[in-house]
Amino acid sequence: MPYTQTHNTMSHLVVVVASLAVVLLARCAAAYPWHLCGTAANFTANSTYQANLGLLAAALPKNISSSRHLFATAVVGAAPDQVSALALCRGDANATACSGCLAVAFQDVQNQCAYDKDAAIYYDPCALYYSSNATSLASMDNVGRTNRVNNQNVTSDPGRFNRQAAALVSATADYAAYNSTRRYASGEADLGVGGQFPRVYSWAQCTPDLTPARCRGCLAGLIAKMSRRFTGSVGGRSLGVRCSYRYETYSFLDGPVMVRLAAPPSSAAPAPAPAVGPTVPTPGAVAGGESSYYSILIFHLVAS
Ligand SMILES: *[C@@H]1O[C@H](CO)[C@@H](O)[C@H](O)[C@H]1NC(C)=O
Ligand SMILES: *[C@@H]1O[C@H](CO)[C@@H](O)[C@H](O)[C@H]1NC(C)=O
Ligand SMILES: *[C@@H]1O[C@H](CO)[C@@H](O)[C@H](O)[C@H]1NC(C)=O
Ligand SMILES: *[C@@H]1O[C@H](CO)[C@@H](O)[C@H](O)[C@H]1NC(C)=O
Ligand SMILES: *[C@@H]1O[C@H](CO)[C@@H](O)[C@H](O)[C@H]1NC(C)=O
Ligand SMILES: *[C@@H]1O[C@H](CO)[C@@H](O)[C@H](O)[C@H]1NC(C)=O
Ligand SMILES: *[C@@H]1O[C@H](CO)[C@@H](O)[C@H](O)[C@H]1NC(C)=O
Repeated sequence: MPYTQTHNTMSHLVVVVASLAVVLLARCAAAYPWHLCGTAANFTANSTYQANLGLLAAALPKNISSSRHLFATAVVGAAPDQVSALALCRGDANATACSGCLAVAFQDVQNQCAYDKDAAIYYDPCALYYSSNATSLASMDNVGRTNRVNNQNVTSDPGRFNRQAAALVSATADYAAYNSTRRYASGEADLGVGGQFPRVYSWAQCTPDLTPARCRGCLAGLIAKMSRRFTGSVGGRSLGVRCSYRYETYSFLDGPVMVRLAAPPSSAAPAPAPAVGPTVPTPGAVAGGESSYYSILIFHLVAS
């Protein structure tokens, strides 16, 4: 498994005090699927809380498969035994895979985070979060955040790779927020010929109940830390209950590509000589110029 955890922020859930706790959390969170166990409170065996969680585990995998965007939230019971849950499948997952993933998620998380009142677990096709705090779910905060970095490094012209990956992730976030009612987008960017990798691929998604602006703001919060977390890495994912993104040098997508970026100009090439004769820009030339300017701008925003 080439992925490791870079940072672990389960907002409002995990307050890691002792270094021993850090070690334990990092160790148990290292392997896929990635889970984050809350530390705020436990429930007991055969409690009402456990029964409510069981009701969710029985209903949510079925319910989500009939929801339009493969997204479901539910609140069961009354405080102090109230459990609220959120489940989201990736925009390119089908209903069968979604439902199956969630059923496994409920089983796995109750083993990994046994008797925890709050937990999040992430798979490639689905994510599940539950909490005793209904306010946390209603607040739409991007709780349960975790970052995973692909340990393989870009060795040839990493600056160029980083800029193009950042431009792609940003364009994918734009598309997910503003161009998709499902708040999901997939992307692919050319890296040009002769480089270490021909292309970089991306995914960005929010829960579909976020407004476009709120979705883009949620993703911006993750993307702002992209250079700090993933610079020089061939892949990375920043996961949260409300929004997430990922990039890789191989295609990990199941559906069509929605965002495409052309290769940026080679960083080693000299500035193009001014054109001789009348300069009538073709639409293609204008688009290419915009996308290369965009990638440089994004890099500076992210790197600062
Ligand atoms: C929950 O249970 C775990 C394991 O039994 C224990 O280490 C932890 O202190 C408990 N947390 C609370 C808040 O009671
Ligand atoms: C919980 O219920 C199961 C099945 O009824 C029983 O076997 C188990 O002993 C109970 N556990 C506790 C701690 O009450
Ligand atoms: C599942 O769907 C049924 C039918 O729409 C609904 O009555 C039930 O409350 C839902 N359960 C959960 C946990 O979302
Ligand atoms: C649903 O997705 C899974 C996993 O990608 C795939 O194996 C399965 O064939 C798909 N089912 C349908 C009905 O498309
Ligand atoms: C519940 O969540 C809200 C919003 O995230 C937070 O402000 C509040 O402190 C939480 N309450 C508890 C008891 O953790
Ligand atoms: C990649 O770079 C990081 C940071 O410089 C380093 O810790 C890691 O060992 C490198 N990975 C490989 C596979 O060389
Ligand atoms: C939205 O989709 C249209 C048509 O495919 C495309 O031209 C436009 O650039 C997209 N907007 C964003 C923000 O990605």
